[in-house]
Amino acid sequence: MSTLLNTETPNSPKPLDGSSFTFSELIQQLNSQTSPPALEQLNSWLSSVQILDADLQPYIGFKEGNYWRHRVLRNEAVEMLVICWRPGQKTPIHDHNGSHGAVLVHQGLMWETIFAYDKERGLSYDTGRECPAGTVTGAGVPDIHQLGNPEVSGQDLITVHVYAPPLGVLKTYKLGSSQVDLYTPNDFPT
Ligand SMILES: [Fe+2]
Repeated sequence: MSTLLNTETPNSPKPLDGSSFTFSELIQQLNSQTSPPALEQLNSWLSSVQILDADLQPYIGFKEGNYWRHRVLRNEAVEMLVICWRPGQKTPIHDHNGSHGAVLVHQGLMWETIFAYDKERGLSYDTGRECPAGTVTGAGVPDIHQLGNPEVSGQDLITVHVYAPPLGVLKTYKLGSSQVDLYTPNDFPT
């Protein structure tokens, strides 16, 4: 089940100490995790963190051929990425193979499409939504989705992702097919 939390939603969870916190405090918090935090906790952190453009500067870089994943941290419990997308770039249709995750749209406009999978009928479209800057959206298990920067957005997209446990091999899907393939994101040296 997916959840969509806007930063202005009155019911959105607060950080454990009830206040907002900085990007480096979030990194500290994630680095100190020894077991995978719940999806609600990831949503809460990303809904409360104040991220400045300068915080993300080390992780900003675009490629013309595909979106570019930049790893901020990875340990046994969680993984954090910054992803940079030119207009028209999008992920394959995928799930996280047992991990849950939350995404914060830092700059630009993200499109998320959710799919339903049935062994008999294969993969079919479920819903789609537009996520402007400030949106936090969470993906539970076994959500199948596709994220991207729409071709018509006319602007770059920068998103911040936290996954727990860290991502391994992802599963990819094709519309109208029951075939499931494996996919290893390989934007990192090792
Ligand atoms: Fe995903």
